[in-house]
Amino acid sequence: MTAPGMQGQSNWSGFRNPLAKPARAPAFLGMAATREPESLDSKFYKPADDFFPAHSSLALTYDDVTLATLYSEVLPRDTQLDTALAEGLHLNIPVISADMDTVTESRMAIAMALNGGLGLIHYNMPDRQQLSEVSRVKNHVHGLIQEPIKVAPEQFIADVLALIEQKKFGFSTFPVVDNTGKLVGLLSGHVVKHRYAKRKVADALTPRGQVHTINKKELGRDPIARADKFFTDHPGIHKLLVVDDKDNLHGLFTMSDLERIAQERSAQFKPARDARFHLICGAAVSATRNAFGELDRERILAHVGGLVERGVDAVAVSTAHGYSKGVGDAVKMLRDAFPKLPLIAGNVTSAAAVEFLADCGANAIKVGQGPGSICTTRIVAGVGIPQLTALYVGSRAAAKKRVTILADGGITKSGDIVKALTLADAVICGGILAGCPESPGEVMEISGKLYKRYRGMGSLAAMKAGSAARYGHAPNPTQKVAPEGVEALKEVSGTVDRVLEQLIGGIQSGMGYLGAANLEQLRQKARFIRVSAAGVKEAAPHDVVELKTGN
Ligand code: XMP
Repeated sequence: MTAPGMQGQSNWSGFRNPLAKPARAPAFLGMAATREPESLDSKFYKPADDFFPAHSSLALTYDDVTLATLYSEVLPRDTQLDTALAEGLHLNIPVISADMDTVTESRMAIAMALNGGLGLIHYNMPDRQQLSEVSRVKNHVHGLIQEPIKVAPEQFIADVLALIEQKKFGFSTFPVVDNTGKLVGLLSGHVVKHRYAKRKVADALTPRGQVHTINKKELGRDPIARADKFFTDHPGIHKLLVVDDKDNLHGLFTMSDLERIAQERSAQFKPARDARFHLICGAAVSATRNAFGELDRERILAHVGGLVERGVDAVAVSTAHGYSKGVGDAVKMLRDAFPKLPLIAGNVTSAAAVEFLADCGANAIKVGQGPGSICTTRIVAGVGIPQLTALYVGSRAAAKKRVTILADGGITKSGDIVKALTLADAVICGGILAGCPESPGEVMEISGKLYKRYRGMGSLAAMKAGSAARYGHAPNPTQKVAPEGVEALKEVSGTVDRVLEQLIGGIQSGMGYLGAANLEQLRQKARFIRVSAAGVKEAAPHDVVELKTGN
């Protein structure tokens, strides 16, 4: 079945998007084709195209609905979660980390890509720094710690203990380098003890001559295999340092990392890589203006050019109001300049806005205004749409235009992701990842509990750090602005691996309940019903004293 205007991948406006998503039947067409005969169930549990129009006067979000279970022959562990967001932008899991300065820098982006997802590096940093953050992800050799934490020979063991305590490091062995970066030795965890606190590192280290090293030129095409062989050939040695011809330190392999990698090789969801086998990475840019109030074309083009040179896989034009001339112009300009670059743009909450950005040349459109855990846009500006209704209208426009949509914000549990994926192609998460060790920022202790800072990009502090343009405010921090986000704390959580494992497990369970073997089937099969306030209460643990949260 073909919709009018879908032939030949052109869209209704006649604009031909060179990076339109590979053809898939719009979900609503599939539903029409698979609609079951009138049954008792179908009077209650409705496909999206019946359900959402029937609630057109009420904006709905995740907890307002639940999904009906369906006959299934699909085991959760057999479900496929891969998603194509644009030509050349394929993820193995449909989860993206938000371009926020307390969520995604290179460490988070690496962890996301290793799990099959994508990280969008935020732009609250100098352009040069964003370029090197992207390079770090693109050059990441899994298993090689490229910038190991080092100590200096003149430090005391007490200083090292204080560093471990302050940064909450989970390890205590450190390479020792002099002030020129040259390797001097290895400080083993065996001597990083309070009883040696008054000794100098220089007196406690394993000297250079006894430290196992490899020249980076010898790593070859498969550094992991090389390091793995070294550990097999040297029983009892757990660290291998990488140096150059001048003995400058360039990295560290640990045996425990390599053993973890060996286990991961059999994992169901493979890392998301580009055609050259590098991890994928996205970066956000804002539609900044010059001193005359015009789109700063030169700066944006030069910077995105730099990102492309470094191998960026997608650029997101990230603003609070994507249905605007400035964002449209920025997307058109980037599409013209970089015809093959996957472009993400947003944020929007209407069908017209999705069509607008698609016509400008965006491939994936961020849907979400005000659902985020740190957002106050709806309170401050009185605008925004609860997320499921926004996703429904956005998804129907996206199918027409052959673009994809990303459900951005408001995800607090895996069940929300399952509901989002009945309409969207992937989700963007901020808060749920902000407590991971891979997010930027220090761990702090308050009343015996550990927290990390998490702030809205529209909070006063973030706007002062550079994100004011995203909210349409002047970059001058002394000017009065109305913040649209809060500064908050997130309790420290497990690693990204651990958090994603839980989320993915939940998504796969949801798909199993619906008999959906892949995300396309999830979109086609989903049947919705409203839940009452009592239903929401019933859905969470109740009338028990909870001992464990299940995470
Ligand atoms: P979650 O719920 O995952 O949301 O924490 C992350 C998303 O929230 C958006 N965002 C903001 N929205 N004011 C807003 O209204 C803000 O200050 C703000 N900062 C981030 C953004 O879309 C992000 O991905």
